[in-house]
Amino acid sequence: MSSQPTSLVTGAAGFIGSHLCERLLELGHQVIGVDAFTDYYPRPVKEANLAALRGQPGFRLVEADLTRAELTGLVEEADFVLHQAGQPGVRPSWGSHFDEYVARNILATQRLLEAARGSKRLRRVVFASSSSVYGQARELPLREESLPQPYSPYGVTKLAAEHLCRLYHQNFGVPIVALRYFTVYGPRQRPDMGFHRFILAALGDRPIPVYGDGEQTRDFTYVADAVEANLLALAAPVVGGLFNIGGGSRASVNEILRTLEEVLGVAVRREGQPEQPGDVRHTWADTTRARELLGFTPRVSLRTGLGHQVAWLRQCLKTGWAER
Ligand code: NAD
Ligand code: UGA
Repeated sequence: MSSQPTSLVTGAAGFIGSHLCERLLELGHQVIGVDAFTDYYPRPVKEANLAALRGQPGFRLVEADLTRAELTGLVEEADFVLHQAGQPGVRPSWGSHFDEYVARNILATQRLLEAARGSKRLRRVVFASSSSVYGQARELPLREESLPQPYSPYGVTKLAAEHLCRLYHQNFGVPIVALRYFTVYGPRQRPDMGFHRFILAALGDRPIPVYGDGEQTRDFTYVADAVEANLLALAAPVVGGLFNIGGGSRASVNEILRTLEEVLGVAVRREGQPEQPGDVRHTWADTTRARELLGFTPRVSLRTGLGHQVAWLRQCLKTGWAER
């Protein structure tokens, strides 16, 4: 391999993908970012995610839709593919939007795998899977061996994509590793996600929408830890596997709001809202496998990570875009 590997990052303009591209450039990779700028949230937000990447000599952005574009040529240029593109969001995956989940999570992944199947150069494909494949936990913490039984349409499409990865590995030797991220947060978090909404409401002195009783828990994962898991997945001598990637910061929504009050130094107002279909009660990652086989250890505590996200959103408010 040349001293400068080439990495193809799908979803490069998104929350996790943009951080991953920056880190790969820091490590000396040539990075080809692919993104379709889907309208799930506004393009200016994604353009802001790309700000530190645009103009860097090692970075090239290809605006293309994985469900339609010719992918073979792109994949042939890559030593590594880091497939972050997808249609995220648990709660909006019901009803008429389901076709977008099918296209962007299942079809897009299948088309990328078809392109990967023919590549002689490719050393690794990392797939961004999700804790949502587990569904309602029957035992905690969640282990990779548990039978996945998604509780949302989104989870069904992520599980289908995970299965596609496995069978392209088994039939054609595509060197796949799937990472099941658990609720990722930090600067650039998507505007539909919990922390983003909580912090913006608190900074604007508006009530924070709490679904259900707020006692549901998530194993919150700081974005830099999720990025690090991708880098470890490129280097580790394991293919064909899947790994839980959890931040080790399991907390309820109510606990998050108390921590936010400490970080901001003010009391926040809560507004009870109905429990949402598709939302599971608890997640909690058993990360033994990722620790033993990838060398993964989450490093950023909830309080520190939340502080980083607050600082970033304050900055966004100064420039205007976060006020929508
Ligand atoms: P995001 O929406 O910020 O980023 C995804 C990017 O993919 C977007 O910029 C979008 O324009 C792009 N995209 C979607 N469909 C595409 C297509 N067909 N072709 C090209 N580009 C396309 O989301 P995120 O939060 O950064 O999530 C990244 C990945 O991680 C997703 O696959 C998601 O399912 C998975 N994931 C995220 C979390 C989380 O907590 N954020 C947790 C588990 C799994
Ligand atoms: C997140 C991502 O959005 C999914 O794309 C991802 O696949 C999933 O993590 C995962 O881990 O697999 P979610 O856990 O719902 O999904 O993340 P948030 O939107 O940040 O919600 C966290 C918690 O806050 C949930 O319990 C939710 O019910 C609650 N919440 C969220 C509220 O109470 N109010 C809100 O306004 C938003």
